[in-house]
Amino acid sequence: MKTEKLKEDIQKLSQGCFPDDKEAYGKLIGDLGENEKAQQYLFEKARETAALTYGNKIYIRGLIEISNICKNNCYYCGIRKDNRKVSRYRLSPEIILECCRYGYDKGFRTFVLQGGEDPGLTDEKMVDLISKIHREFPDCGITLSLGEKERESYQRFFDAGADRYLLRHETADSSHYRKLHPPELSLHHRMECLEILKEIGYQTGCGCMIGSPYQTEENLGQDLVYLKRFQPHMVGIGPFISQKDTPFRDFSNGTLTRTLIMLGLIRLLLPQVLLPATTALGTIHPRGREMGILAGANVVMPNLSPRENRKKYLLYDNKLGTGEESGEGLELLKQQMSRIGYEVVTDRGDYKEKGMV
Ligand code: 5AD
Repeated sequence: MKTEKLKEDIQKLSQGCFPDDKEAYGKLIGDLGENEKAQQYLFEKARETAALTYGNKIYIRGLIEISNICKNNCYYCGIRKDNRKVSRYRLSPEIILECCRYGYDKGFRTFVLQGGEDPGLTDEKMVDLISKIHREFPDCGITLSLGEKERESYQRFFDAGADRYLLRHETADSSHYRKLHPPELSLHHRMECLEILKEIGYQTGCGCMIGSPYQTEENLGQDLVYLKRFQPHMVGIGPFISQKDTPFRDFSNGTLTRTLIMLGLIRLLLPQVLLPATTALGTIHPRGREMGILAGANVVMPNLSPRENRKKYLLYDNKLGTGEESGEGLELLKQQMSRIGYEVVTDRGDYKEKGMV
């Protein structure tokens, strides 16, 4: 009976007639967690929905972690400013271009430049770098993930050739946001940045951690309300994983099941969204990435950073950076995906508007 009711809710959600409020979503998330049959139904619907727009294609993004220097002190993050144990680096433009060349040869057509909020990565340096990548790889997408900036900076990066920007909102509840961040950071400013990015014309991505400290089901419900309203082109979610040198070292990790449920629900709420099965998901379970795809995700982001830098970009403990999670492991990733019926493609993998298929 309970299962039937949950299936009905899932159906309503995919038809756009489920109540759009945090309590209702929160309850659904909680109830689904206890009902495996309903979870399977959700994942099936989510896969069908993804297939309507993207078929069985999996898009890959080459992730280049360009700097682990950060001026912020987010309580959950391993590369927070006050973590003295991190050996800090900033990649040179030449090394970054080498990573792109290596990735291009392997079939990557999107490069994601991700970094901490590093004051040394000045606008001038970024514009120069983006222009160089754009010139050498005109058929590739350039995604940035460099945190909160002024409108002018976002605009200059866009004009230089960047197409997409990832800025997770982390949680859509402002009091929860304050529990995860020091007082100088605010959800309000974060959301303003996201609005600006979209206005400028970026394919914009937000997202949150699942199972972060103090998070309630209702908070996750609020995340869904926000996602539905904001209509991002991409959503990055993954489980919170504690990092031993942060204030959140003693909190437990987010769970696989809850992350998969959120992936499935997001796919139904935003049918065209580009949704990665993230590294964090692969880190908490050896088959996490595949399970993410089978719950509605359609993107993977293998690491193209130089090997010696990967172990310095530890946002959380035991972060994957080799095997299928790396540029070198692309063949393994292709096999892994083909075993579950999906095909890794050489494609920019842009967002497809409704009706574009
Ligand atoms: N566990 C999981 N995800 C984390 N991130 C940062 N620290 C952690 C952690 N301990 C995520 C944040 C950030 C993204 C780059 O990595 O959501 O936006």
